[in-house]
Amino acid sequence: MDALEGKTAVVTGAGSGIGRGIALALAGHGVHVVVADVNQDTAEAVAEEVRATGRRSLAVAADVSDLAQVEALADRAYAEFGSVEILANNAGVSMRPYRASWDTSYEDYQWVIGVNLWGVIHGHHAFVPRMRETPGPKHIVNTSSMSSMRDAAGLAAYTASKGAVDHYSLAAAEELATQNIGLTLLFPGFVRTDISKSEQLRPADQQSESRHVKPYSDYLGQGGNEGNWSGAPAMAADDPMLVPLDPIDAGSMVVRAIRENRRFCVTHPTPAELMRTRTELMIGGYEPLGQSNAVLNDVRP
Ligand SMILES: NC(=O)c1ccc[n+]([C@@H]2O[C@H](COP(=O)([O-])OP(=O)(O)OC[C@H]3O[C@@H](n4cnc5c(N)ncnc54)[C@H](O)[C@@H]3O)[C@@H](O)[C@H]2O)c1
Repeated sequence: MDALEGKTAVVTGAGSGIGRGIALALAGHGVHVVVADVNQDTAEAVAEEVRATGRRSLAVAADVSDLAQVEALADRAYAEFGSVEILANNAGVSMRPYRASWDTSYEDYQWVIGVNLWGVIHGHHAFVPRMRETPGPKHIVNTSSMSSMRDAAGLAAYTASKGAVDHYSLAAAEELATQNIGLTLLFPGFVRTDISKSEQLRPADQQSESRHVKPYSDYLGQGGNEGNWSGAPAMAADDPMLVPLDPIDAGSMVVRAIRENRRFCVTHPTPAELMRTRTELMIGGYEPLGQSNAVLNDVRP
């Protein structure tokens, strides 16, 4: 979608960080923006910033983990703008401290997957049928994370949600391509945002009550972080993925990916060696049935 001027975008989680960066970068290219966020005040503030660029903007308070609220967001966007050409399902949360999968409470999983994965699914569910009904090309951006490219110890709930976003999006992208709707999967590395403070917005009924929150780092040095299956060491402090990026720059990377209809937008150098090793081990993981079953065949009646 190369001509963005005059189009309308809905960006979730746009009251802060990368969502705000996407909203402002789009506004800079002449796009009107619906600024959606669970936090009404920050959404209003960013909508004001969009208006200052001369574009129209509407702030909508919406919790993406709640389908009814995302449907209401779509109703508001279509009532106000008539059409939505760009949807960025960007809202996301993360927990601190990082915690082991077995120390992650049921409420932790519910909350993180509810926002990060269901938020994306709700976006598709509420918007795609309406996007299909209006003429012209459309584009969806789903925010994943570069942590889904690694084996991010201490982040099982988060990477589970993001890994699911990856596969959901790749399947949907094939379908959407037949409907003149492009899709970009956004993989941010370290972007300077408020993500580490996500839990300030965590609803009271989804607090982590059922498990004591023990930091994953407490296990280190007890055989907990000696490396992983690929032999790769834990992430080094000087890893290129950890070089902080300004969220506004992340926003302009996203706009470029939309204009070029690119499937992937990655904000930092990919951990290519790790990804290659993972893929090679997966390919090599196949063993013909005869050999795997050699012992079983002896005992099978
Ligand atoms: N910052 C990073 O380094 C980084 C790295 C990888 C992926 N990401 C992803 O980028 C996306 C944006 O995060 P960010 O870093 O800008 O963080 P951020 O906390 O600055 O912004 C996230 C925004 O989402 C909003 N939000 C939270 N829960 C919501 C909900 N239920 N419904 C609607 N809005 C909600 C917050 O109010 C906030 O305004 C997330 O999906 C995050 O997982 C960030």
